[in-house]
Amino acid sequence: MEQAMRNFFLFLSKNKPITKMAKKYGLRFGAARFVAGSSIDQAVEVIRELNKQNLVVTIDYLGEFVDNVEEANQMALECVEAVRAIGREKLRSQLSLKLTSMGLDLQEDVVTKNMRMILEEARKHDVFVTIDMEDYSRCEKTLEIFKTLKLEYDNIGTVIQAYLYRTEKDMEELNAYSPNLRLVKGAYKESSKVAFPEKKDVDDNFKKIIKMHMLNGNYTAIATHDDKIIDYTKKLAEEHNIPRDQFEFQMLFGICVERQRELVEEGYKMRVYVPYGTDWYGYFMRRLAERPANVAFVLKGVMKN
Ligand code: FDA
Repeated sequence: MEQAMRNFFLFLSKNKPITKMAKKYGLRFGAARFVAGSSIDQAVEVIRELNKQNLVVTIDYLGEFVDNVEEANQMALECVEAVRAIGREKLRSQLSLKLTSMGLDLQEDVVTKNMRMILEEARKHDVFVTIDMEDYSRCEKTLEIFKTLKLEYDNIGTVIQAYLYRTEKDMEELNAYSPNLRLVKGAYKESSKVAFPEKKDVDDNFKKIIKMHMLNGNYTAIATHDDKIIDYTKKLAEEHNIPRDQFEFQMLFGICVERQRELVEEGYKMRVYVPYGTDWYGYFMRRLAERPANVAFVLKGVMKN
C-alpha cells in the first residue's frame, strides 16, 4: 500500500499540466511546510532565522520543466539574483539548482552558458553551487557537464544517488576531480534495471559510498534524515579521525527540525536545503512520496484552503 502511494505521488510529480497550474495558485495544501516562500525576500528571512540558529543553508529556486530557451535563461537570472542576495545580506548559504531548469532538455550550450554565468557571479560572492541530481535519464549528461565545469570552477559540486547501480563506478571516476559531493539515497521512481528496488540495498550502498568518499579525503555532504546513516557517519569519522570540517550533514527544510538542531549542538555542520519559488509542485510531491504519512498535512491544507 505504502509503495503504491509512493508511486502515485512520484507519478503526480512529473505531471506537467498540474505543475503549471499549481504555479498560478501559490503555496497550497500544506506545501508551505516544505517551501520557504514564493519570493527571494521571503527566502532571505527564512535563511536569516536558520543562520541565527547556526544552521547553514543551501537555497534552491524551484523549477523543473522549462519549455524554451527564454524560460531557461530566466531561471538562470533568478539564480544569479539569489546569489546576489546571499552576498548582499551576508547569508551563510550556498545555491542548489537543477540542470533541467537551465535548459538541459533543450540545448547543451544553453545549459553551459547559463551555468557559467551563475558560477562567475557565485565566485564573486564566494558562494558554492551544487547541481542537484535528477532522474536516471539525466544522470550521464549531468555528470558530464559537472566534470567540464569542475575543470574551470572550484565552487561547484554535484549529487550522487545511492540507489543507482552505476553509482560506485561514477564515484571512482569522479575521484580524479576531488569533488565536493552531496550523497543521497535518491528521490525518483527508477526501474529495477538501473536502481536497487530494496531499501536495505540502497542503505548498504549509501554507507559504502559515504565511506569511500570520506576515506578518499574528499569533502562529503551526507544528505539524509535517517538516524542510522547519521550514526554510521559519526562513527566512521571518529574511527578514522576524519576532521569535522571535511564533512557535513544536510536535511530538507521543515523535516526533522529537532534533529537538525541537535546535530548543531553536538558540534556538527548542518546545512538545510531551503527551496523557494512558485514552482513548488514537483518538489512537494516528492516529499509526500518519501513519507506518505505527510499526506495528513495535505489533508489539513485542503481543509484550510
Ligand atoms: P529515508 O527515506 O529512509 O527516511 C528516514 C527517515 O527520515 C524517515 O523514517 C522519516 O522519519 C524521515 N523522512 C524522510 N523523508 C521525509 C519526508 N519527506 N517528510 C518527513 N520525514 C521524512 N534526491 C535526489 O534524487 N537528488 C537530489 O539532488 C537530492 N538532493 C537532496 C538534498 C538534501 C539536502 C536532502 C536531505 C535530500 C536530497 N534528496 C535528493 C532526497 C533524497 O534522495 C531522499 O529522497 C530523501 O532524503 C529521503 O531519504 P532519507 O535519506 O532521508 O531516508
